[in-house]
Amino acid sequence: MALRASFVPHKIPAFPGSQRGSHRVSMASTVHPPSVDVKNVKKPFAPPREVHVQVTHSMPPEKQEIFNSLQTWAEQNILVLLKPVEKCWQPSDFLPDPASEGFQEQVKELRERSKELPDDYFVVLVGDMITEEALPTYQTMINTLDGVRDDTGASLTPWAIWTRAWTAEENRHGDLLNKYLYLSGRVDMKQIERTTQYLIGSGMDPRTENNPYLGFIYTSFQERATFISHGNTARLAKEHGDMKLAQICGTIASDEKRHETAYTKIIEKLFEIDPDGTVQCLADMMRKKITMPAHLMYDGHDDNLFEHFSAVAQRLGIYTAKDYADILEFLVARWEVEKLTGLSGEGRKAQDYVCGLPPRIRRLEERAQARATKKASAVPFSWIYGREIML
Ligand SMILES: [Fe+2]
Ligand SMILES: [Fe+2]
Repeated sequence: MALRASFVPHKIPAFPGSQRGSHRVSMASTVHPPSVDVKNVKKPFAPPREVHVQVTHSMPPEKQEIFNSLQTWAEQNILVLLKPVEKCWQPSDFLPDPASEGFQEQVKELRERSKELPDDYFVVLVGDMITEEALPTYQTMINTLDGVRDDTGASLTPWAIWTRAWTAEENRHGDLLNKYLYLSGRVDMKQIERTTQYLIGSGMDPRTENNPYLGFIYTSFQERATFISHGNTARLAKEHGDMKLAQICGTIASDEKRHETAYTKIIEKLFEIDPDGTVQCLADMMRKKITMPAHLMYDGHDDNLFEHFSAVAQRLGIYTAKDYADILEFLVARWEVEKLTGLSGEGRKAQDYVCGLPPRIRRLEERAQARATKKASAVPFSWIYGREIML
Protein backbone atom coordinates (compact mmCIF):
# COMPACT_ATOMS: atom_id res chain seq x y z
CA MET A 1 0.00 0.00 0.00
CA ALA A 2 1.35 3.37 -0.93
CA LEU A 3 2.20 5.76 1.82
CA ARG A 4 -0.53 8.33 1.91
CA ALA A 5 -0.09 11.76 3.31
CA SER A 6 -2.56 14.53 3.71
CA PHE A 7 -1.94 18.03 4.92
CA VAL A 8 -4.20 19.64 7.44
CA PRO A 9 -4.64 23.18 6.18
CA HIS A 10 -3.77 25.88 8.64
CA LYS A 11 -6.99 27.79 8.49
CA ILE A 12 -8.65 29.92 11.09
CA PRO A 13 -11.35 27.80 12.63
CA ALA A 14 -14.51 28.95 14.31
CA PHE A 15 -15.62 27.95 17.75
CA PRO A 16 -19.10 28.81 18.95
CA GLY A 17 -19.30 30.32 22.38
CA SER A 18 -15.57 30.93 22.84
CA GLN A 19 -14.85 34.20 24.62
CA ARG A 20 -11.12 34.25 24.18
CA GLY A 21 -8.66 36.72 22.82
CA SER A 22 -6.83 36.54 19.55
CA HIS A 23 -6.08 33.33 17.77
CA ARG A 24 -2.49 32.23 17.73
CA VAL A 25 -0.26 29.26 17.18
CA SER A 26 1.51 27.94 20.22
CA MET A 27 4.30 25.36 20.48
CA ALA A 28 5.04 25.88 16.79
CA SER A 29 2.39 23.48 15.63
CA THR A 30 -0.67 23.50 17.84
CA VAL A 31 -3.61 25.59 16.71
CA HIS A 32 -6.22 26.49 19.26
CA PRO A 33 -9.73 27.63 18.47
CA PRO A 34 -9.96 31.37 17.94
CA SER A 35 -12.17 33.97 19.47
CA VAL A 36 -15.51 34.20 17.80
CA ASP A 37 -17.60 37.09 16.61
CA VAL A 38 -20.34 36.98 19.22
CA LYS A 39 -23.00 37.92 16.63
CA ASN A 40 -21.98 35.03 14.48
CA VAL A 41 -22.11 32.01 16.76
CA LYS A 42 -23.29 29.41 14.21
CA LYS A 43 -19.77 28.56 13.09
CA PRO A 44 -18.79 24.91 12.77
CA PHE A 45 -17.01 23.29 15.68
CA ALA A 46 -13.25 23.36 15.18
CA PRO A 47 -11.07 21.98 17.94
CA PRO A 48 -7.39 22.75 18.63
CA ARG A 49 -5.20 20.62 16.44
CA GLU A 50 -1.70 19.88 15.26
CA VAL A 51 -0.63 21.35 11.96
CA HIS A 52 1.66 18.97 10.18
CA VAL A 53 1.59 16.29 7.56
CA GLN A 54 -0.54 13.37 8.72
CA VAL A 55 0.89 10.13 7.37
CA THR A 56 -1.51 7.20 7.15
CA HIS A 57 -1.15 3.42 6.69
CA SER A 58 2.65 3.35 6.70
CA MET A 59 2.90 -0.37 7.51
CA PRO A 60 3.26 -2.47 4.33
CA PRO A 61 0.14 -4.68 4.00
CA GLU A 62 2.19 -7.88 4.03
CA LYS A 63 3.23 -7.06 7.60
CA GLN A 64 -0.42 -7.24 8.69
CA GLU A 65 0.07 -11.00 8.35
CA ILE A 66 2.45 -10.85 11.32
CA PHE A 67 -0.39 -9.66 13.53
CA ASN A 68 -2.80 -12.28 12.19
CA SER A 69 -0.26 -15.01 12.85
CA LEU A 70 0.35 -13.69 16.39
CA GLN A 71 -3.27 -14.15 17.51
CA THR A 72 -2.68 -17.35 19.47
CA TRP A 73 0.48 -15.86 20.96
CA ALA A 74 -1.48 -12.75 22.02
CA GLU A 75 -4.14 -14.90 23.63
CA GLN A 76 -1.56 -16.82 25.65
CA ASN A 77 0.78 -13.94 26.49
CA ILE A 78 -1.23 -10.71 26.47
CA LEU A 79 -4.78 -11.56 27.50
CA VAL A 80 -3.42 -13.32 30.59
CA LEU A 81 -2.21 -9.92 31.82
CA LEU A 82 -5.79 -8.71 32.19
CA LYS A 83 -7.39 -9.07 35.59
CA PRO A 84 -10.82 -10.71 35.91
CA VAL A 85 -13.42 -8.02 36.66
CA GLU A 86 -14.39 -9.71 39.91
CA LYS A 87 -10.80 -9.38 41.13
CA CYS A 88 -10.38 -5.76 40.04
CA TRP A 89 -10.56 -2.83 42.40
CA GLN A 90 -13.33 -0.33 41.72
CA PRO A 91 -13.40 3.41 42.45
CA SER A 92 -16.00 2.90 45.19
CA ASP A 93 -13.43 0.83 47.15
CA PHE A 94 -11.51 4.07 47.82
CA LEU A 95 -14.32 6.58 48.27
CA PRO A 96 -16.85 7.43 50.98
CA ASP A 97 -19.84 5.09 50.70
CA PRO A 98 -22.93 7.21 49.99
CA ALA A 99 -25.20 4.42 51.28
CA SER A 100 -23.52 4.30 54.68
CA GLU A 101 -24.42 6.17 57.84
CA GLY A 102 -20.93 7.56 58.07
CA PHE A 103 -20.89 9.07 54.59
CA GLN A 104 -20.85 12.69 55.68
CA GLU A 105 -18.16 12.03 58.25
CA GLN A 106 -16.03 10.24 55.65
CA VAL A 107 -16.42 13.14 53.22
CA LYS A 108 -15.44 15.55 55.97
CA GLU A 109 -12.29 13.54 56.68
CA LEU A 110 -11.41 13.43 52.99
CA ARG A 111 -11.76 17.21 52.80
CA GLU A 112 -9.68 17.72 55.93
CA ARG A 113 -6.88 15.59 54.51
CA SER A 114 -6.99 17.34 51.14
CA LYS A 115 -6.50 20.72 52.87
CA GLU A 116 -2.89 19.68 53.51
CA LEU A 117 -2.20 19.47 49.78
CA PRO A 118 -0.92 22.61 48.04
CA ASP A 119 -2.52 24.19 44.96
CA ASP A 120 0.31 23.20 42.64
CA TYR A 121 -0.19 19.56 43.58
CA PHE A 122 -3.87 19.88 42.68
CA VAL A 123 -2.98 21.39 39.29
CA VAL A 124 -0.94 18.30 38.44
CA LEU A 125 -3.53 15.88 39.83
CA VAL A 126 -6.24 17.61 37.78
CA GLY A 127 -4.09 17.46 34.62
CA ASP A 128 -3.47 13.76 35.23
CA MET A 129 -7.17 13.17 35.82
CA ILE A 130 -8.15 15.01 32.62
CA THR A 131 -5.58 12.95 30.73
CA GLU A 132 -7.24 9.78 32.06
CA GLU A 133 -10.72 11.11 31.33
CA ALA A 134 -9.91 11.50 27.62
CA LEU A 135 -9.98 7.70 27.36
CA PRO A 136 -12.39 7.62 24.38
CA THR A 137 -9.56 9.19 22.38
CA TYR A 138 -7.08 6.48 23.31
CA GLN A 139 -9.43 3.64 22.44
CA THR A 140 -10.07 5.38 19.12
CA MET A 141 -6.32 5.75 18.58
CA ILE A 142 -5.64 2.05 19.16
CA ASN A 143 -8.49 1.20 16.81
CA THR A 144 -6.82 3.18 14.03
CA LEU A 145 -4.02 0.57 13.96
CA ASP A 146 -3.99 -1.77 10.94
CA GLY A 147 -4.11 -5.48 11.73
CA VAL A 148 -5.13 -5.14 15.39
CA ARG A 149 -8.19 -2.88 15.35
CA ASP A 150 -11.58 -3.89 16.69
CA ASP A 151 -13.47 -4.16 13.40
CA THR A 152 -16.97 -4.51 14.78
CA GLY A 153 -16.94 -3.14 18.33
CA ALA A 154 -17.25 -6.70 19.62
CA SER A 155 -14.61 -8.44 17.52
CA LEU A 156 -13.34 -11.73 18.94
CA THR A 157 -9.70 -11.37 17.90
CA PRO A 158 -7.39 -11.30 20.94
CA TRP A 159 -6.18 -7.85 19.83
CA ALA A 160 -9.71 -6.45 20.00
CA ILE A 161 -10.51 -8.28 23.24
CA TRP A 162 -7.38 -6.78 24.78
CA THR A 163 -8.21 -3.25 23.64
CA ARG A 164 -11.74 -3.33 25.02
CA ALA A 165 -10.69 -4.86 28.34
CA TRP A 166 -7.72 -2.48 28.61
CA THR A 167 -10.12 0.44 28.06
CA ALA A 168 -12.47 -0.95 30.69
CA GLU A 169 -9.63 -1.20 33.22
CA GLU A 170 -8.40 2.30 32.37
CA ASN A 171 -11.90 3.72 32.72
CA ARG A 172 -11.66 3.32 36.49
CA HIS A 173 -8.67 5.69 36.67
CA GLY A 174 -10.36 8.90 35.55
CA ASP A 175 -13.52 7.89 37.37
CA LEU A 176 -11.75 7.50 40.73
CA LEU A 177 -9.65 10.67 40.43
CA ASN A 178 -12.68 12.65 39.29
CA LYS A 179 -14.76 11.59 42.29
CA TYR A 180 -11.91 12.28 44.70
CA LEU A 181 -11.36 15.76 43.24
CA TYR A 182 -15.08 16.51 43.29
CA LEU A 183 -15.40 15.55 46.96
CA SER A 184 -12.25 17.45 47.94
CA GLY A 185 -13.91 20.77 47.13
CA ARG A 186 -10.52 22.18 46.25
CA VAL A 187 -10.94 22.59 42.50
CA ASP A 188 -13.27 24.25 39.98
CA MET A 189 -15.09 21.20 38.63
CA LYS A 190 -16.86 23.11 35.87
CA GLN A 191 -13.56 24.34 34.40
CA ILE A 192 -12.15 20.84 34.69
CA GLU A 193 -15.18 19.33 32.98
CA ARG A 194 -14.91 21.90 30.20
CA THR A 195 -11.25 21.02 29.71
CA THR A 196 -12.14 17.34 29.43
CA GLN A 197 -14.85 18.11 26.87
CA TYR A 198 -12.48 20.25 24.83
CA LEU A 199 -9.79 17.57 25.00
CA ILE A 200 -11.99 14.67 23.90
CA GLY A 201 -13.29 16.89 21.08
CA SER A 202 -9.73 17.64 20.00
CA GLY A 203 -8.46 14.06 20.01
CA MET A 204 -4.74 13.49 19.83
CA ASP A 205 -2.12 13.22 17.15
CA PRO A 206 0.52 10.71 18.25
CA ARG A 207 1.75 10.30 14.64
CA THR A 208 1.45 6.54 14.74
CA GLU A 209 0.32 6.34 11.08
CA ASN A 210 -2.18 3.45 11.55
CA ASN A 211 0.95 1.40 12.12
CA PRO A 212 0.76 -1.06 15.05
CA TYR A 213 4.56 -1.08 15.41
CA LEU A 214 4.45 2.68 16.03
CA GLY A 215 1.21 2.42 17.99
CA PHE A 216 2.48 -0.16 20.47
CA ILE A 217 5.82 1.63 20.88
CA TYR A 218 3.75 4.69 21.76
CA THR A 219 1.57 2.81 24.26
CA SER A 220 4.63 1.10 25.83
CA PHE A 221 6.14 4.52 26.41
CA GLN A 222 2.88 6.05 27.66
CA GLU A 223 1.98 3.30 30.11
CA ARG A 224 5.40 3.64 31.69
CA ALA A 225 5.06 7.44 31.74
CA THR A 226 1.73 7.18 33.58
CA PHE A 227 3.14 4.51 35.93
CA ILE A 228 5.88 6.99 36.86
CA SER A 229 3.65 10.04 37.19
CA HIS A 230 0.90 8.34 39.24
CA GLY A 231 3.65 6.82 41.39
CA ASN A 232 5.00 10.31 42.03
CA THR A 233 1.57 11.82 42.84
CA ALA A 234 1.22 8.93 45.34
CA ARG A 235 4.61 9.72 46.88
CA LEU A 236 3.79 13.43 47.23
CA ALA A 237 0.33 12.75 48.68
CA LYS A 238 2.04 10.61 51.31
CA GLU A 239 4.56 13.37 52.05
CA HIS A 240 1.64 15.76 52.60
CA GLY A 241 -0.07 13.26 54.90
CA ASP A 242 -2.96 12.17 52.66
CA MET A 243 -2.50 8.41 52.87
CA LYS A 244 -5.84 7.66 51.19
CA LEU A 245 -4.93 9.69 48.13
CA ALA A 246 -1.49 8.07 48.13
CA GLN A 247 -3.24 4.71 48.04
CA ILE A 248 -5.51 5.86 45.19
CA CYS A 249 -2.61 7.07 43.03
CA GLY A 250 -0.47 4.04 43.88
CA THR A 251 -3.25 1.65 42.93
CA ILE A 252 -3.70 3.37 39.57
CA ALA A 253 0.08 3.26 39.05
CA SER A 254 0.09 -0.52 39.54
CA ASP A 255 -2.50 -0.92 36.74
CA GLU A 256 -0.31 1.19 34.47
CA LYS A 257 2.64 -1.06 35.26
CA ARG A 258 0.67 -4.16 34.23
CA HIS A 259 -0.38 -2.43 31.00
CA GLU A 260 3.24 -1.45 30.37
CA THR A 261 4.17 -5.12 30.73
CA ALA A 262 1.62 -6.07 28.05
CA TYR A 263 2.59 -3.45 25.48
CA THR A 264 6.35 -3.93 25.96
CA LYS A 265 5.82 -7.67 25.50
CA ILE A 266 4.17 -7.06 22.12
CA ILE A 267 7.13 -4.95 20.99
CA GLU A 268 9.56 -7.52 22.38
CA LYS A 269 7.84 -10.11 20.16
CA LEU A 270 8.07 -7.79 17.15
CA PHE A 271 11.81 -7.37 17.83
CA GLU A 272 12.08 -11.16 17.75
CA ILE A 273 10.17 -11.56 14.45
CA ASP A 274 11.24 -8.39 12.63
CA PRO A 275 14.19 -6.70 14.38
CA ASP A 276 15.06 -4.46 11.45
CA GLY A 277 11.53 -3.12 10.97
CA THR A 278 10.97 -2.69 14.70
CA VAL A 279 14.17 -0.78 15.43
CA GLN A 280 13.44 1.57 12.54
CA CYS A 281 9.96 2.21 13.93
CA LEU A 282 11.40 2.89 17.39
CA ALA A 283 13.82 5.42 15.90
CA ASP A 284 10.98 6.97 13.88
CA MET A 285 8.80 7.47 16.98
CA MET A 286 11.71 8.93 18.93
CA ARG A 287 12.65 11.33 16.11
CA LYS A 288 9.06 12.57 16.04
CA LYS A 289 9.11 12.64 19.87
CA ILE A 290 6.47 10.94 21.98
CA THR A 291 3.80 13.59 22.40
CA MET A 292 1.81 13.27 25.58
CA PRO A 293 -1.77 12.09 25.07
CA ALA A 294 -3.25 15.35 26.41
CA HIS A 295 -1.07 17.63 24.29
CA LEU A 296 -4.13 19.37 22.81
CA MET A 297 -5.48 20.26 26.26
CA TYR A 298 -7.41 23.54 26.43
CA ASP A 299 -9.75 25.09 29.00
CA GLY A 300 -11.25 27.96 27.01
CA HIS A 301 -8.75 30.42 28.53
CA ASP A 302 -5.12 29.39 28.37
CA ASP A 303 -3.61 28.85 24.91
CA ASN A 304 -0.64 27.12 26.48
CA LEU A 305 -2.46 25.10 29.12
CA PHE A 306 -0.66 21.83 28.38
CA GLU A 307 2.76 23.49 28.50
CA HIS A 308 1.86 25.22 31.78
CA PHE A 309 0.53 22.01 33.35
CA SER A 310 3.66 20.16 32.16
CA ALA A 311 5.91 22.85 33.64
CA VAL A 312 4.27 22.45 37.07
CA ALA A 313 4.54 18.64 36.82
CA GLN A 314 8.22 19.09 35.97
CA ARG A 315 8.84 21.48 38.88
CA LEU A 316 7.16 19.15 41.39
CA GLY A 317 9.09 16.18 39.99
CA ILE A 318 5.90 14.33 39.03
CA TYR A 319 6.79 13.91 35.37
CA THR A 320 10.02 15.41 34.10
CA ALA A 321 12.20 15.50 31.01
CA LYS A 322 14.59 13.27 32.91
CA ASP A 323 11.76 10.73 33.23
CA TYR A 324 11.33 10.89 29.44
CA ALA A 325 15.01 10.03 28.92
CA ASP A 326 14.83 7.35 31.64
CA ILE A 327 11.82 5.71 29.98
CA LEU A 328 13.63 5.54 26.66
CA GLU A 329 16.71 4.12 28.35
CA PHE A 330 14.57 1.56 30.16
CA LEU A 331 12.83 0.48 26.94
CA VAL A 332 16.11 0.25 25.00
CA ALA A 333 17.42 -2.09 27.71
CA ARG A 334 14.11 -3.98 28.02
CA TRP A 335 14.12 -4.73 24.28
CA GLU A 336 17.89 -5.31 24.22
CA VAL A 337 18.23 -2.91 21.30
CA GLU A 338 22.00 -2.65 21.71
CA LYS A 339 22.39 -6.38 21.20
CA LEU A 340 20.49 -6.57 17.89
CA THR A 341 22.53 -8.12 15.11
CA GLY A 342 22.07 -8.78 11.40
CA LEU A 343 20.45 -5.40 10.80
CA SER A 344 20.37 -3.56 7.46
CA GLY A 345 22.28 -0.30 7.06
CA GLU A 346 19.11 1.64 7.92
CA GLY A 347 18.51 -0.65 10.87
CA ARG A 348 22.00 -0.06 12.25
CA LYS A 349 21.57 3.70 11.90
CA ALA A 350 18.28 3.47 13.80
CA GLN A 351 19.94 1.33 16.49
CA ASP A 352 22.78 3.84 16.96
CA TYR A 353 20.32 6.71 17.08
CA VAL A 354 18.06 5.29 19.81
CA CYS A 355 20.93 3.92 21.90
CA GLY A 356 22.67 7.31 21.91
CA LEU A 357 19.52 9.33 22.51
CA PRO A 358 18.94 9.21 26.30
CA PRO A 359 22.20 11.04 27.24
CA ARG A 360 21.54 13.57 24.46
CA ILE A 361 18.05 14.28 25.78
CA ARG A 362 19.45 14.71 29.30
CA ARG A 363 22.09 17.20 28.14
CA LEU A 364 19.56 19.28 26.19
CA GLU A 365 17.21 19.17 29.12
CA GLU A 366 19.78 20.44 31.62
CA ARG A 367 20.34 23.46 29.39
CA ALA A 368 16.59 24.06 28.92
CA GLN A 369 16.08 23.80 32.68
CA ALA A 370 18.79 26.36 33.37
CA ARG A 371 17.06 28.78 30.97
CA ALA A 372 13.60 28.06 32.44
CA THR A 373 14.77 28.65 36.01
CA LYS A 374 16.07 32.07 35.04
CA LYS A 375 12.69 33.23 33.75
CA ALA A 376 10.37 31.48 36.17
CA SER A 377 6.92 33.02 36.14
CA ALA A 378 3.50 32.40 37.63
CA VAL A 379 0.34 31.72 35.63
CA PRO A 380 -3.32 31.46 36.64
CA PHE A 381 -5.07 28.08 36.31
CA SER A 382 -8.82 28.07 35.77
CA TRP A 383 -8.97 24.62 37.49
CA ILE A 384 -8.19 26.28 40.83
CA TYR A 385 -10.35 29.39 40.35
CA GLY A 386 -7.67 31.37 38.55
CA ARG A 387 -5.16 31.25 41.39
CA GLU A 388 -1.59 31.69 40.19
CA ILE A 389 0.99 28.92 40.29
CA MET A 390 4.73 29.18 39.73
CA LEU A 391 5.89 27.33 36.65
FE1 LIG B 1 -4.60 5.19 33.25
FE1 LIG C 1 -2.60 3.48 31.11
